[in-house]
Amino acid sequence: MKTVFLLGFLLFYQSWAFEFIIDGEWESEMSDPLDHHHDSGRYRRNVLTSGEEEEDFVAIQGNDITVKSYKVESKITSRFAHTKVKSSVVNSGLQAQSIGFNVQIPKRAFINNFTMNVNGITFVGSVKEKTVARNLYAQARARGKAAGIVRTNSQAMETFRTEVHVPAGSKVEFELHYQELMQRKLGIYQHTLHIQPGRLVPLLQVDVYIFEPKGIKFVTAPNTLGKQFEDLTTITHTKEKAHIVFKPNLQQQRKCENCTESAVDGVFTVTYDVERETNAGELQVSDGHFVQFFAPSDLTPLSKNIVFVIDVSGSMWGLKMKQTVEAMKAILDDLSIDDYFSIIDFNHNVRCWSEDLVQASSIQVDEAKKYIQNIKPNGGTNINEALLRAIQMLIKASHHGLIDPRSVSMIILVSDGDPTVGEIKLSTIQKNVKLRMKEEFSLFSLGIGFDVDFDFLERIAMDNRGIAQRIYANQNAAEQLKTFYSQVSSPLLRTITIHFPENTVNNVTQNRFDKFFSGSELIVAGKLQPSDLTTLQSFITASAANMDLNIQAEADIQALDTVLSRHQHSYNDFARQMWGYITVNQLLAERSLARTASRKRKITQRIVALAVEHQFVTPLTAMLVESNEEGRPERLIADSPKDSKHGCCSATGSLSGQMPVQRLVYQNPPWILPTPGPTFVAEAVGSQESIIPVHITGVDSDPHFIINLPKSNMDICFNIDSKPGHILNLISDPGTGVTVNGQLIGSKMLKNNKLNTYFGTISIYSKTDGVQVIVGTDRIDLMESKNNHSFSWGATAELTLNRIKVTILKEQHVTVLIDGRISVMVLLHRVWKKHPVQVDFLGIYMSNNNKYSTQVHGLVGQFAKEPEVKVYDVHEGADPKKKEATMEVKGNKLAVTRGWQKDYRRDRKRGSDIYCWFVHNNGKGFVDGNYTNYILPQLDSFLIAL
Ligand SMILES: *[C@@H]1O[C@H](CO)[C@@H](O)[C@H](O)[C@H]1NC(C)=O
Ligand SMILES: *[C@@H]1O[C@H](CO)[C@@H](O)[C@H](O)[C@H]1NC(C)=O
Ligand SMILES: *[C@@H]1O[C@H](CO)[C@@H](O)[C@H](O)[C@H]1NC(C)=O
Ligand SMILES: *[C@@H]1O[C@H](CO)[C@@H](O)[C@H](O)[C@H]1NC(C)=O
Ligand SMILES: *[C@@H]1O[C@H](CO)[C@@H](O)[C@H](O)[C@H]1NC(C)=O
Repeated sequence: MKTVFLLGFLLFYQSWAFEFIIDGEWESEMSDPLDHHHDSGRYRRNVLTSGEEEEDFVAIQGNDITVKSYKVESKITSRFAHTKVKSSVVNSGLQAQSIGFNVQIPKRAFINNFTMNVNGITFVGSVKEKTVARNLYAQARARGKAAGIVRTNSQAMETFRTEVHVPAGSKVEFELHYQELMQRKLGIYQHTLHIQPGRLVPLLQVDVYIFEPKGIKFVTAPNTLGKQFEDLTTITHTKEKAHIVFKPNLQQQRKCENCTESAVDGVFTVTYDVERETNAGELQVSDGHFVQFFAPSDLTPLSKNIVFVIDVSGSMWGLKMKQTVEAMKAILDDLSIDDYFSIIDFNHNVRCWSEDLVQASSIQVDEAKKYIQNIKPNGGTNINEALLRAIQMLIKASHHGLIDPRSVSMIILVSDGDPTVGEIKLSTIQKNVKLRMKEEFSLFSLGIGFDVDFDFLERIAMDNRGIAQRIYANQNAAEQLKTFYSQVSSPLLRTITIHFPENTVNNVTQNRFDKFFSGSELIVAGKLQPSDLTTLQSFITASAANMDLNIQAEADIQALDTVLSRHQHSYNDFARQMWGYITVNQLLAERSLARTASRKRKITQRIVALAVEHQFVTPLTAMLVESNEEGRPERLIADSPKDSKHGCCSATGSLSGQMPVQRLVYQNPPWILPTPGPTFVAEAVGSQESIIPVHITGVDSDPHFIINLPKSNMDICFNIDSKPGHILNLISDPGTGVTVNGQLIGSKMLKNNKLNTYFGTISIYSKTDGVQVIVGTDRIDLMESKNNHSFSWGATAELTLNRIKVTILKEQHVTVLIDGRISVMVLLHRVWKKHPVQVDFLGIYMSNNNKYSTQVHGLVGQFAKEPEVKVYDVHEGADPKKKEATMEVKGNKLAVTRGWQKDYRRDRKRGSDIYCWFVHNNGKGFVDGNYTNYILPQLDSFLIAL
């Protein structure tokens, strides 16, 4: 009995031929798929063009066959997805026949296993260097060739295709595995599975398991399969885990009652996002690897300088132009008044709507819209000159000081064809652009349709810190353009670097990013160096609209593995595979930009080694599928054409700008944060020391004031009893322009018939700098004119806004230092969330060395100018433990009691005692005027003269 097994699968830009032979009898009439691909570009285009029309896709092909089961299972752990597609099929006909098993997989996924069981013989896949795989395959191949069929039917997917020729009655089980990194776009991760069994299946099941250690913010499974499947998907969801199941029975699969056709024919979608502490990074360590995620959100976007470069050659005529105009109108409307822009439209000539960048005022935007509206496409394509003009425009604006050094400058190129006029050699255009572009400019290129050399657009974008995106020339092209734009319209950070302390990690993936766009995510992975460390630290530095920020993240080296080991449905190899996935994609991108053959060869070797180690089918590796039968080596190969350009950049699709040169540079952080513990930064000006001064002036608990009087060597205390909501002024210094106010909150319940009040919010405002820092118990806001940035207590961070430096020590305290002269520390008191009475509150401590002006006042500030204080007639009081005395101050004679207050800087739980003379009645007589004079309307108000 001789049987031929024939397999082929084909991906978007290349085909992967899968063939193997068991005692050849059956002859293929198809030709070698590899032959197709020798005729390069033109052929590829034809394929892709036909791809724009929907084709029927059937997962299991064959005539008289019975599909017993079709199961898809994805395990997504920390954004890394491992998907298994499994099906069991019987040839129930009377003849031998070919059974096809086809899977649509996301373009950016790597296939990493394929197994097949045919009548009890198991074939297992292993990834090998391509020529190795081919040679092994050739050795086993008896005769005959087989081919996969070229097909592609979707924008983001490609098709894996196999075909097996089996005798009647045979049972075949297929199982395909692929892996991908979930990409966050516009604030969500979207996981899509194509479920198109093409027939009724007794056991049809989709399971998606999500595990996110920081917690899942939301998870939905929007029904994208059709109305009849409404409510058939169930989601079980705890804080860190979610399980999504779709399991329609035979009846539910039917197109109509008694029909034999299946209505299950489409995309199953799961979307989710993870919980994040405000602007903190998330560092995870597992199995000797680490992954750093960073996706800040509460930051004011940077302003933009954009030159739109639009192809208006003849080929754009018609729908393409109409949709480009529609998209451009929406995009222009979205510009903010702080943005600058211009439009260049080009065919064989290059025209500018405005020779210079102009502010995006509503008048200018309207003008630009009218201009776009009236463009009549015709003529050739002079990309080179158009791009050089755009660069010139940005350079000119930058020379004239028009460009804010913190803004983001970009060129957005929209084109639908290869250059035909002027410089037409692609490599020369690439060189010209690279030569003139400045480090701080980026180029994004959008290719409409398939007449454009997308590889060129990708290379030129990647070379200049941008990405390329293909726009499918169909009904929703305008939508695609707008979606792309919305991904890059909100840059939040520039020049982001993620460092690790020396000797803790190696093999770090790209750790410098040019930009961070709102709604996306930066990911850095690497390996841990062997050491006896129990925690790993990372340091993120970046610049935002008006501020430089440094954030520290930390992870226990063991904790996550302990958690994972208890989980049944997590993908526990995620960190290792994610590192491999990112590294291979980066190397593929580097390889496509490599300028010398030897460099390219070196990179190729590294890719192959890694792809084999991690079992990824890449353009440089192939999967050999072999039976485990002793003495009957049966082989099959998954292959791709030699010159395949497996989307170098779209695979990882880093919006953030590749910076390959510095990819592996990491060093000690340029800044050292205070080590956790009770510290008080910036004692004297210029002092680098972090020390706790013994003497302190501060307010803590239900506001208990401690005023240190250094000349008298005495501490005086008083309480203020006020109402929740009241804002009390602590420091008001018109001379330096600094005001510090605290707003009261009440505890949850009366205690001894009295509602205790505490500071719930502290505001430190420097009028000179226009900067206000508002410290609350849940977050810390930094505001400067229209900019508003939020941070959490959950991460140690250092933020610099001109003369103001804000240091957050994770869950402990915030120190605000103004011009190195005035330092205020706010201490966080956290209580048990369900505490019946207590609420979280803040304490505030100020250095006695603060350099206020002579005009300083406020409940605390007035004592900067130390009053003369005399205490005498010390005697036993009603309470034998508390002595009493008379105090003379500011011309008043006050009865005072010896007591103590707590200083919580060293020990935030118990505090340390500070002995002081206590002034009764809200500090009456000690404090100027009546305490009610210190109640202010706003957190940034100054005190009006008493
Ligand atoms: C591929 O899958 C088979 C069957 O599940 C398994 O035995 C084999 O170890 C897998 N190979 C890899 C590299 O994961
Ligand atoms: C389906 O088949 C049953 C049994 O043959 C029959 O009673 C019923 O009317 C059919 N329904 C439709 C919609 O044809
Ligand atoms: C600052 O931003 C936060 C959230 O990002 C917001 O809740 C807060 O109201 C803003 N504050 C001001 C003064 O705009
Ligand atoms: C990882 O880094 C080490 C030390 O720099 C190097 O020797 C090794 O080759 C790297 N491994 C990979 C897979 O890149
Ligand atoms: C403070 O002033 C308020 C009215 O402004 C008055 O009711 C109160 O008695 C005064 N308190 C003291 C201690 O003088």
